[in-house]
Amino acid sequence: MPKITYRVGDETTTVDATVGSSMMHDAVRNDIGGIIAECGGNAMCATCHVYVEDGPVDSLPEVGFAEDEMLDCTAAPREQNSRLSCQIPVTDALDGLTVRVADEQA
Ligand code: FES
Repeated sequence: MPKITYRVGDETTTVDATVGSSMMHDAVRNDIGGIIAECGGNAMCATCHVYVEDGPVDSLPEVGFAEDEMLDCTAAPREQNSRLSCQIPVTDALDGLTVRVADEQA
């Protein structure tokens, strides 16, 4: 089971992530704050914005077209390491990944 760490403000939480889920669904299931996920994971709301900070970043999937478009609509500034957590499927290769949840989602 891959371990993924979420930073929310000053809090850091590491969860046993579920392979086959998305990072967004896993975060919500584990009560990680700050992720609204208004559209339910369809890359239509940009309220699941995270910044990838550390770990196996090369194992992340490429940013897709819809994700790229929505990342231009995030409430917090888009950075080079911005991702929509709903567009990242959890795989064993993500073990050790650390993301920071964006301070503002809407
Ligand atoms: Fe809406 Fe990710 S949950 S874009």
